[in-house]
Amino acid sequence: MEYTGHPIVQAHEMVMPCESPETGILGYIAIHSTRLGPALGGCRMYPYESRERALNDVLRLAKAMSYKAACAGLALGGGKAVIIGDPRRDKTPALWERFGRCVDALNGRYITAEDVGTTVADMAEVAKATKWVAGLTGDPSPYTARGVLAGMRACVARRLGRGDLRGVRVAVQGLGKVGMALAELLHREGAVLVVADVDAERRRRAEERLGARAVAPEEIMEQDVEVFAPCAMGGVLDEVAAERLRAPVVAGAANNQLSGPEVGWRLQERGILYAPDYVVNAGGLIFCYYEIKGGGEEATLRHVERIAENLQQVFRRAEAEGISTAEAADRLAEACIARGAP
Ligand code: NAI
Repeated sequence: MEYTGHPIVQAHEMVMPCESPETGILGYIAIHSTRLGPALGGCRMYPYESRERALNDVLRLAKAMSYKAACAGLALGGGKAVIIGDPRRDKTPALWERFGRCVDALNGRYITAEDVGTTVADMAEVAKATKWVAGLTGDPSPYTARGVLAGMRACVARRLGRGDLRGVRVAVQGLGKVGMALAELLHREGAVLVVADVDAERRRRAEERLGARAVAPEEIMEQDVEVFAPCAMGGVLDEVAAERLRAPVVAGAANNQLSGPEVGWRLQERGILYAPDYVVNAGGLIFCYYEIKGGGEEATLRHVERIAENLQQVFRRAEAEGISTAEAADRLAEACIARGAP
């Protein structure tokens, strides 16, 4: 069964419920577009309050994957899966087998991978039922961090006229898989780190190993720094944050950083250069692409470094058309998808 009646399904190629005869609905798989290639996107597991919420999320996330792949210059479409459940309690081999069979039924139009709430080990279970799984050879996060670093260098060069990150003050929000890897890379480049995490142990580790100064989570956005790097949750840049932010550059890994398009405009008005999230955080997706296609570490890293050029293209378009950088990224992605070539 495919859904067509949902108000935002029109923009998508398809959305399909994953069902289990024993437990009913497990979640959904959505494909936004396969114009550039098979739709690759992770499987999120989350205790959604309702099926409607899960459906909305999968549709939104699938579209974002199309845009991310297009801007990264990858021959990939955009898709996503969500499983309704608590990742700490509800995982069973039977669930992954059922999900794997749903993925398999799409015969390669959708390729799954890990995402929030799912792990490499879960995907190994899924792979018992389908070959359409990526992200099995390791954690994509270090590649995401490398891409953010490349993007940050491009932003600092454009906004501050600086050729490297030595002595540049960077505030990193969130020291998880990407944030900690990014902080380590920044430390090696000679950047001065201010960090925040709700987890005290991670803050302590960054202080001890990277000479970072840790601040309370609610203070990180107002630090007197050159770069703010959001690497925790989405929606951090709302109207209040857009007024309070002191950094002239925002470049970080978190998905959906802007609470709405008006925030992109406000940042621009304030002279803050915003690196659109899905352009700068594409390193993990690039890693998955080369895992499927082959090409090895060198080709992967070369492609990840190209994130800097992709961003320059976004900035040029924003300037030429008098639009926000977020809007410019959307237009570039839409043009790629419309012409069917990355
Ligand atoms: P993670 O779950 O490993 O790390 C998130 C970190 O943020 C944790 O250390 C957590 O304690 C911290 N945190 C949570 N709330 C916070 C708050 N209010 N203030 C400060 N710190 C807080 O997640 P991961 O994988 O590092 O991803 C980070 C972000 O990047 C997420 O938004 C994710 O969707 C996005 N992303 C990740 C990719 C990857 O390759 N892992 C790829 C593309 C995007």
